Amino acid sequence: MNRICELFGIRYPIIQGGMVWCSGWRLASAVSQAGGLGLLGAGSMHPETLVEHIRKMKAATDRPWGVNVPLMYPEIDRLMDILIREEVKIVFTSAGSPKKFTPMLHEAGVTVAHVVSSSKFARKCEEAGVDAIVAEGFEAGGHNGREETTTLTLIPQVRRATGLPVVAAGGIGSGDAMLAAMALGAEGVQIGTLFALSAESSASEAFKQRCLALDEGGTMLCLKKLSPTRLVRNGLFDKVAEAEARGANAEELRDILGKAASKRGIFEGDTEQGELEIGQIASSVDAIRPAGDIVRQLVENFRKAQKDVAAIGF
Ligand SMILES: Cc1cc2nc3c(=O)[nH]c(=O)nc-3n(C[C@H](O)[C@H](O)[C@H](O)COP(=O)(O)O)c2cc1C
Repeated sequence: MNRICELFGIRYPIIQGGMVWCSGWRLASAVSQAGGLGLLGAGSMHPETLVEHIRKMKAATDRPWGVNVPLMYPEIDRLMDILIREEVKIVFTSAGSPKKFTPMLHEAGVTVAHVVSSSKFARKCEEAGVDAIVAEGFEAGGHNGREETTTLTLIPQVRRATGLPVVAAGGIGSGDAMLAAMALGAEGVQIGTLFALSAESSASEAFKQRCLALDEGGTMLCLKKLSPTRLVRNGLFDKVAEAEARGANAEELRDILGKAASKRGIFEGDTEQGELEIGQIASSVDAIRPAGDIVRQLVENFRKAQKDVAAIGF
């Protein structure tokens, strides 16, 4: 029995992580239709836009799906009201404490998972009553753990810290990696980068092509004084790195980023002066594929890897 499949009512324990400017209803419904769990990324949506995406999602699939809510969202109370009013069944919270909203969501019958980057926070999530934990390692795209704990190090420790089902995130780009995460104690995977670079992702074509061309080392974690974020090393990154090297404070860094830096980079395609969030595993992606094909390939590759690993003798 797989507790992640059971908890969310999905066929494969593959979750498409909520992603600003990438995961609208087109991407999330394609993943859910293929047997995974698609998540709308509320972090970059105005409340009215979220309502529109929720309604389109309901029309596009009758399979389970959910919404990712970064808890630092400015109009968080309004957003929570919308989720409950629209009868969203699954919510993945991130970037904050799940203590305040988990009881309220549970009251409304919502299943809640929360994203963490350490076993200390995993324990806090368990105390807060969440139903599952996403443990996200340093390889991941987007906002990241300050301590730089890799997925390989993080998962077994989170596994030991909690009895809740654990979903591994960060650097998972194949069924082989999915199998590795399960060997470490995860019961599912949350994938961002692969789906950000899929056909249904709402990211700009320029962003996708820039990410496809990345080599290993093409992204770095920066902005620790603001909110640690893994970014592509472009013109904006160079400015941030130079400022950080001379000890710039949070305010200076905010000024360098300017307004709506991730929208500019990911959605509008300013690949030199925009903020380009993507994970280390982008260097292994060589083409833009439909999200459903990505899910199917992960499953096929996972099954093959199970056999290959079983055949390794020593
Ligand atoms: C472009 C991009 C935007 C992201 N935005 C969010 C977000 O809004 N909320 C969130 O919880 N995680 C966000 N993430 C993290 C993903 O949900 C996921 O946990 C992560 O990408 C997994 O690691 P991977 O990139 O190695 O697959 C983002 C990731 C990317 C690549």
